[in-house]
Order: sequence, then C-alpha cells, then structure tokens
Amino acid sequence: MSKPRLHFDVLNSADGSLKLNIVLENSTDTELKDFVLCFDMPRFIDKQTVFNGHVTSQVGSHIEMAPPVNTAIGKGERWQTTIESQTCGLFNLSERPNHPYLRLGETIVDVNMGTHKMSQPEDLDLRVLTLPAASSGVIPQPQSIEATEGEFRLASQLTFKAELTETSNAIDWLSNQFPEVTFVKTEGDATLSLLKVSAEHIKPEGYELTIGGESIQIKAATSAGFFYGAVTLAQLLVTGQGVVTSATIIDAPQYHHRGQFLDCARSFHGIDTVKSVIDQMAWLKLNTFHWHLTDDEAWRIEIDAFPELTELGAWRGEGELQPSQFGSGSKRYGGFFTKQQIKEVVEYAKAREITVIPEIDIPGHARALIMALPNLLREADDKSEYVSIQQYQDNVLNPGLPGTYQVLETILDEVCELFPSQVIHLGGDEVPKHVWEKSPACIAKAQAMGLDDVRLLEGHLISHLEQYLAQKGRNISVWEEASHGNKITKNATVCAWSNGAEGQKAAQAGYPVIMCPAQATYLDMAWNKDINETGVLWAGAIDLKTAYDFEPGSIENSEQVIGTQALVWTEFVKDRAKLEYLLYPRLFAVAEVAWTASENKSWQRFLPRVAAQLEYLDKRNINYRHMSS
Ligand code: ACM
Repeated sequence: MSKPRLHFDVLNSADGSLKLNIVLENSTDTELKDFVLCFDMPRFIDKQTVFNGHVTSQVGSHIEMAPPVNTAIGKGERWQTTIESQTCGLFNLSERPNHPYLRLGETIVDVNMGTHKMSQPEDLDLRVLTLPAASSGVIPQPQSIEATEGEFRLASQLTFKAELTETSNAIDWLSNQFPEVTFVKTEGDATLSLLKVSAEHIKPEGYELTIGGESIQIKAATSAGFFYGAVTLAQLLVTGQGVVTSATIIDAPQYHHRGQFLDCARSFHGIDTVKSVIDQMAWLKLNTFHWHLTDDEAWRIEIDAFPELTELGAWRGEGELQPSQFGSGSKRYGGFFTKQQIKEVVEYAKAREITVIPEIDIPGHARALIMALPNLLREADDKSEYVSIQQYQDNVLNPGLPGTYQVLETILDEVCELFPSQVIHLGGDEVPKHVWEKSPACIAKAQAMGLDDVRLLEGHLISHLEQYLAQKGRNISVWEEASHGNKITKNATVCAWSNGAEGQKAAQAGYPVIMCPAQATYLDMAWNKDINETGVLWAGAIDLKTAYDFEPGSIENSEQVIGTQALVWTEFVKDRAKLEYLLYPRLFAVAEVAWTASENKSWQRFLPRVAAQLEYLDKRNINYRHMSS
C-alpha cells in the first residue's frame, strides 16, 4: 500500500531564523483525518507563528503537529502548513525534517519523505583536494627519521626477543596486525628486539626504532613507548607493502592527551563499533577514549542500583519513556552497554595503551536520567521555564533535591568500579538560562547556603561531586562551562569546546586544558557547505586542511594545554559507515596535530601519507570520505 508523503520547502533560512512549508500529501487510497503528524527536526518551533495548523507538542527535536480541526485530506490531496523557528536556520539536509509518521488514535502510519526545496549557499566552495601518489610513511609524523643504508623485508616468520611485561601489549598487537606472519619468541639472536632503557634517556611514551637490513630494535622506557614503536613499524610495513627502508626513528608525542570522543547516547553505537574505533585510535597513537554514555536522549550504562536507567532510559519511540529523536522513528530504538561489555571495552582499550574516560553528563543533558527516576529527581512544584539549546524544557537535574546527590553518588560509585581511569568526566555543558528560578527546593537551598542566585547551585553540585570523587582518588574533567566561577579545583581538567578563547580563559585561570574547539575538532561538522554533505554546520565546515592547521598550543598560557581530541556527536550519525565517513580522513589530521610538534608538521608532506593510509582503510573495509566528491 502506498504511504503518505512529506514534502518541505525552505522559505527562509538565516543565522537566527527559519521558515518552512511542510506539505503532507495523501498518496494513500483512504481519507486522512484526526491525525497527528510527527517528525523530528532540531529547531524550536515558535508556536504562535504556525500557519494552518498547530504544534501539539515538542520534546527536543521531536515535533507533533495537527491540522485545523475537522481537516480531512482526501486521496491525492495535500495539507500545507508553515512553521517558523528563531533557533537557527537549516543549512543542510542532515538536519531536515526527518522520519515522519502519523498517529491516528492507536495506529501509526509511516510517512515517506517526499521532495524538498532548499538552495545551495552562495559561498559554496566545492574545490576538490587532489592527493599526490601514495608514499609509505607514518601518521602521525615522527619527531625525527634518519634513513640509513639497506631495507628490511618482512618474511613469513619473525623471531623476537622481549623479556618484560612492558613489551607484551606491543608484541600482542603487532602479531595481530600480521596474521600471515608467525611470531616466534627466542632467547638468542632475534629479528626484532625490544629493549628497556631508563626513563632518563627516553621521554614517557617515546621510543627509538632502529630498522636495519636484517634486524629491528625498539628501545623504550614504558609499555606505551614500546607500543608506539610497534605501531610505527607496523605502519611502515603496511604502507611499504612489507618492505621498509632502513632508518633510525626517534619519537615522542607533543601532547599527552590525544583523544577521541564518541557520543553513544544520541545514537546507539554498540560494542563492535566501539572496538573498531579503539582499533583505529591505536593505529594513530591516540590514547584517550572519551566515552559519552549519557545525554538527554538516552542513558547507556547499566547501573545495578537503578535498573530503570537502562530498562527505560535507553529507549525511544512510541510508548517508550521518550519519543523519537533525530529521526530514530516511531519504533522502539536504543540499547545500552552491560557491565560485562564495559569491562571488555576497558580491557580492549588497555591492551592498546588507551584509557577510557566515561562521561556522565550533568546537570544539563540529563533528561533520560530524570525521566527514568522521576520520584527521586523531579520536583513537582518547580515551575521554572527554560528551553535548552537542544529544545528541552525539562532536562536539568535539580540541585535543591537530596535525591539528586543520592542518585549521582550511587551512580558514580558504580562508574568508579567499572572504570579505572584517574579521570571521570562530569559534563557540565549547556545548562540553559532560567533553570531553578522557580524551584522552591533550589530557592530554599540557595538561601540556606547564603547564595544570592540559584544559578550558583550548579557550581555547588559539580564541586560536591568533585570532592566525592576525590575521596576515591579520582579527578574530574568537565566541559568549559563548569569552570566558570572557579568553583571546581585546579585538579579538574577543562575541555574547551566552543572556541579557542574559552581554552585561553581556562588556561589563564590555571586549569589543565584540552583544546577541542568545535571549529577544528568536531568531526560531526560537515566537510563543506554542500546541502547534501553529511554532517552539521553550526560551527562551520571542517575540511582536511582546517583540521590539519589547528594548533592547540596557539594560546597564551599554552603550558596549560595537555592535548586535543577529535569529537563525533551522533545526533545524525546512526551507523558505522556514516561514523567512519565523518572520521576519515580527518582523524589522520587530528592525530598528527596531537602527536607531532608544530615545527614538524607539513601539509605537503602529510598528503602522500594520507593517500597511503586510505589504501590501508580500503583493505580494512573502513569507510571514508573520498576527496573527489
Ligand atoms: C558540547 O559540545 N556541548 C560540549
């Protein structure tokens, strides 16, 4: 049976305004009447401006609309309505009205997407980046490479000598990269020798790799150093088709924090995708996996004390705790990580010299948590009116309620049992204006604490949890907003995300800073402004050169910068192919920015190595954005 169709037409799109015609075409054989049209679009609809219909509800990106009463749409007829938003324009099709359906009483009727009218931007730049011929080489570029006489050829058997536990990650990983080669441990002369040297001679995470015609030596002081020596060797062998020019490579990273962030809350990316991401991180010497496990749209981490969090909070759709978001649709959508899976991920990462930092995002971005535990986390008399940047009106934890502290402490107890990382990320971003202003509990708590503004309770809550975690020997990491007001201690790390100036501010205040401005490191941004390009554009387009040119240390107080990271938020990234499309090749650039000293970076010398790495991605069946499109 044919389905109704939804067409849309962008009438006006600018920085702070959007006007759309929405047309429902009845392509079915029966009359449509008494229905609600549901679709997702991440813009707050101004209810007063709706023409020929009305918005019956909006939760986040999920919008429900009805035509004027008694409207009946006969076969082949259309209902057209106009909506407006002051949030932001619509700049490409990633954020278009998505996954529409009709609710007719108890019945759900799927709606197909029809046509759209949307113009390309006037400043569209579709320049194609032509890559030079591939040449063997390493990403990220090592500190120094001195070529010597001869070449090494990989044979079907490789003898190795490695006596210490610090070498086991390197050897295990290396032998897994070359399943066609038999690795044989020996006490005598070996083709590959791993030698421990004192930390005085080699920097932490550093290594010295000497490749001769017959033998190879890796010297390092730490397990990570051996591992990175092995990664460089593997990259040279793979990109050189098993043949490597003899050389001495001395290397160490510019920054200790070289991260990748993955949002598993907005869209659920399961354990296989997470492990694949970790594999690629290891290949690029990235060492910190920032795992975003909770947000408004879902709670993804099993917590024994509160089974509701994953039984209810991990799911969206009709009849679920939360409605569809970002085009997830009417059917039940979601998933979560069991404790067993989390332990598996932590171990998998550890074997690749990667630390997993979990993020429990509070006090904003907490709708799934609040909805799952309303008795503990909601205050019926809180009449505060606010709209978060993602269009939620009920997504902020209430720091006036004892339940908030009890729930968060209990959750953090279990989080600390699962994650051995020194650092736990507590979010702290994007708490909307006007929260708590009409909350009797917050007003009373602020008064009792002598605070003249309920808003100061935000700093109080994060600082309370920082102290709670400090008793367990842990530090916190937060998004930049949580450092405003200097409530948290200087043991906290600040992730500066909205722009470089925020990093400068946090560095000046004395915080260790991870520079991850959206304009250079948010790889969920589209490559260019083509309306058909995957990705969002709120921080601008990021092409390979933009990602490569970023300098995390180009601020005052740059000694406070501990590193950088690539981020992918997944509102519109539903599957692995799309995730990989956004990551590659731009992750190569971020990895080089994080590892390689600025004076060693060279765009011209980077490109042939990118070409070689793309061949490797092909072999591994990893998707990437082709340059020619
Ligand atoms: C963020 O992008 N809200 C950290």
